[in-house]
Amino acid sequence: MNGNNSELVPITKVPYNERIRRIIDEFSNEFGSPPAFIARVPGRVNLIGEHIDYCGYPVLPMALEQDILVAGSLIEEHKVYIRNANPKYESIEIEIKAYDDISINADKDGKPFWYNYVLCGIKGALEHINNEYSSGLKLYIDGNIPPASGLSSSSALVSAACLAFLYAQNATINKTDIASLCARCERYIGTQGGGMDQAIAFLAEKYCAQYITWNPLTATKVVLPEEASFVVAHSLAEINKAATNDYNRRVIECRLASKILALSADTTKDHSIITLSQVQKILDKTLADMVALVYEKLPKLVYTKEEVCKILNISEEEMDDLYLTQNTRHLTEFKLKQRALHVYEEASRVEEFRKTCMQSKKNGKTNGSINDKSGSTGDRNDILTTLGKLMSDSHESLKSLYECSHKNLDLLVDLSSKMNVHSRLTGAGWGGCIVALCPKEKVKDYIERMENEYYVEHCNIDKNKAKSYIFATTPNYGAVIYKNK
Ligand code: GLA
Repeated sequence: MNGNNSELVPITKVPYNERIRRIIDEFSNEFGSPPAFIARVPGRVNLIGEHIDYCGYPVLPMALEQDILVAGSLIEEHKVYIRNANPKYESIEIEIKAYDDISINADKDGKPFWYNYVLCGIKGALEHINNEYSSGLKLYIDGNIPPASGLSSSSALVSAACLAFLYAQNATINKTDIASLCARCERYIGTQGGGMDQAIAFLAEKYCAQYITWNPLTATKVVLPEEASFVVAHSLAEINKAATNDYNRRVIECRLASKILALSADTTKDHSIITLSQVQKILDKTLADMVALVYEKLPKLVYTKEEVCKILNISEEEMDDLYLTQNTRHLTEFKLKQRALHVYEEASRVEEFRKTCMQSKKNGKTNGSINDKSGSTGDRNDILTTLGKLMSDSHESLKSLYECSHKNLDLLVDLSSKMNVHSRLTGAGWGGCIVALCPKEKVKDYIERMENEYYVEHCNIDKNKAKSYIFATTPNYGAVIYKNK
């Protein structure tokens, strides 16, 4: 595996805060002795670059303070005991022999059981170490990332389980390799995720967002302007992307669009070319050229399966086998133009966002560091406006071209915009959260007004409860192992 970060996941002493003390106590009560270690993996918020990681384009997320903790102890039995601090999540024990024996089944409505995410992590870890493991595990899990909110609670759970299992087996693995491994692990659940959530979970650093590229996986710090604050607000619409085919449908629409655009380079028979970024590279064009090419080669708003097969000169069976997933094989219509346009334009917005942050760094004040104060207020306001506009454009594109917004998300974005705050949906969409770029001096006022106007007035929620759904956040550090003895 490639990567620029050969550092190992840090192993440090247990920090004594309230949450850690509680998980150690609860683990001891449940299993009779304290845990040997705790794996901690953060959630994330993506600032810009949505639904483009699986197309091979860079994204720009940062880690949150909220996280998943997995406390663990080794046992001789070849079993894993899985417990959750939240009683609504049932306990489970599984026999472990080999990764092939671990099956990840959904419930009767096609929704994954909560512990499937833990099993995905363990299955991937076993595969990575070729089933050569010596001990079973007792695991106790506690999380404070709101589930189904687009803040990557599922990926943090998969990653924390995988990290815990590998650590328990003494397997050393660097940050980039475990990030790629965890991205593969999560695909056992059925969604073809791109890897952003796992990459930021392991490669995040305090005070900076990260510009993440693929093949090889690299993460480069992006220092955010000091006067910018990022506020996350929950729409109260929950989303579980593994429970529907909405996510995979977008993934395969992008694959089919890539195949058609690649026809210009006569590479149709090369089945390995399936991402929009691969096509851009082969054709040696700019992102703006690719947008023009989409209008030229994908003029229709809807393509039937039959039409796509005809254009690509393949049979429906070939199309199923080569490009579709289990849960998208029955689809008969695809929106290729809209999806490809979003991807190429969003990829440009990421570059623009990063460039603007670099510009801001050169001009003076940046988040989390002491700088000279050379930038004039006018320049600095322009920088926030440029970043904000990119975020608003991203939301508009996700709403109209990618069709992955939700009426609650749109309402949050509209309310923000009335307060002159730019925002966008973050994560997969179809529910979950928005992220808003708010000038620091306006944060208190913005949060207060959103609490009243969205949560209290629109959703009929008690003001105190509303406070738990909206928070300002700063970039946090990535995964770590706390050694307890
Ligand atoms: C989910 C996936 C990521 C990414 C986002 C959308 O979080 O896990 O890989 O595709 O959706 O940007």
